[in-house]
Amino acid sequence: MIEASKGSNADPIVTYGMIGGGEGAFIGDVHRHAIGLDSKAVLAAGCFSRTMANTLATGESLHIDKERLYKTYEDMAASEGSRVDGIDFAVIVTPNNTHYPIAKTFLNNGINVVCDKPFTIDSSQAEELAQLAKKKDLLFAITYTYSGYATVKHARAMVADGDIGKVRFVNAEYPQEWLADRLEESGQKQASWRSDPAQSGISNCVGDIGSHIENTVAYMTGLKIKRLSARLDTFVEDRILDDNATIMVDYEGGAKGLYWSSQIAVGHDNDLSVRIYGSEGTIRWRQEDPNYLEVIYKDKPAMKISRGRDGLKSRAESLVRIPAGHPEGYFEAMANIYKTYIGALIKKAGGGKLSADDMDFPKPEDGVSGVRFIERCVESSKRDAAWLEF
Ligand SMILES: NC(=O)c1ccc[n+]([C@@H]2O[C@H](COP(=O)([O-])OP(=O)(O)OC[C@H]3O[C@@H](n4cnc5c(N)ncnc54)[C@H](O)[C@@H]3O)[C@@H](O)[C@H]2O)c1
Repeated sequence: MIEASKGSNADPIVTYGMIGGGEGAFIGDVHRHAIGLDSKAVLAAGCFSRTMANTLATGESLHIDKERLYKTYEDMAASEGSRVDGIDFAVIVTPNNTHYPIAKTFLNNGINVVCDKPFTIDSSQAEELAQLAKKKDLLFAITYTYSGYATVKHARAMVADGDIGKVRFVNAEYPQEWLADRLEESGQKQASWRSDPAQSGISNCVGDIGSHIENTVAYMTGLKIKRLSARLDTFVEDRILDDNATIMVDYEGGAKGLYWSSQIAVGHDNDLSVRIYGSEGTIRWRQEDPNYLEVIYKDKPAMKISRGRDGLKSRAESLVRIPAGHPEGYFEAMANIYKTYIGALIKKAGGGKLSADDMDFPKPEDGVSGVRFIERCVESSKRDAAWLEF
């Protein structure tokens, strides 16, 4: 329970627990570092792995009280939900197929949830969780990390303010190299479950990174997909799921888009880029160079906006942490989601009314849209890239 810090004007102490993120895992550690950047929440409980030995070792290294290290997430939710000092929110950083049962269990125990993307592996499960969070009046965030960058927020405000006119076309891509060979065969943890439909869901490439394109574009432009046509490819022999995808999109209101996500693109690391073409100008953003945003207006020289140097629109500027030239990156983007989410938890606990800025983190409806995007892409591809209504 969120309690005021005794005898001080400081924010109340917020505690959280984590499911997944044990030794050898990837994103759980990123979440912990990101939360730690603002010192607003303390890790107090965990079920870091399906293996208790890993949970114990991870918990010990993170200085967590042994009695709050749990063998199963069910035990953790029941115990933390009934403790007076139980965690204020649970962070779910496990493979995709487990998000739904874990999130449902924590919500049913009255605990707020942050879950990594994709929300679930099935849109009816995603809708059910969205309804449940609403019914229980709990705050639920989905960590689409890229929406946390200050420059992405600046681009969003530019589009919303009409700075580049009416958006006509969006070209977005997320190429990676890491699955250019059959890495899953080696037993590499992250590749193994992502290439297994039982754990990953019906798609690998669209589910893992195409979903980031969908969310980042939706966030930057505010555009809603009306219909899409997708072709999913599997280039690496004996792989079951897709490792490359080309998607054409029509948005409501007439704009069009083209997305490419790939895990076989030799030479690319995490090269998410979004180019938004409006009637008066263009915005270009690249996650591997996220401290800058390129803006080009008709008949004017191109501009390179520098985070920390050039004033950003107010919401974006409020999340700038350090001066220009000292790069902010992935950790800060994730931290911005948490800073906002934890701020909302504190304000809500104090009876405050939450504004749009207070709630500026990816929410269940964004997660539902993300899962639906994956489903529509897979279905379209099965039907020879047929155009499907969203
Ligand atoms: N937001 C992002 O940018 C981003 C980046 C990477 C991964 N992700 C997402 O995060 C999730 C995890 O990905 P990852 O790459 O860290 O995977 P990972 O395999 O590295 O880690 C998964 C962890 O979950 C644990 N786990 C699995 N089932 C569990 C259970 N029932 N109870 C407790 N722990 C359990 C595993 O032991 C492991 O520690 C995925 O949904 C992925 O899509 C998001």
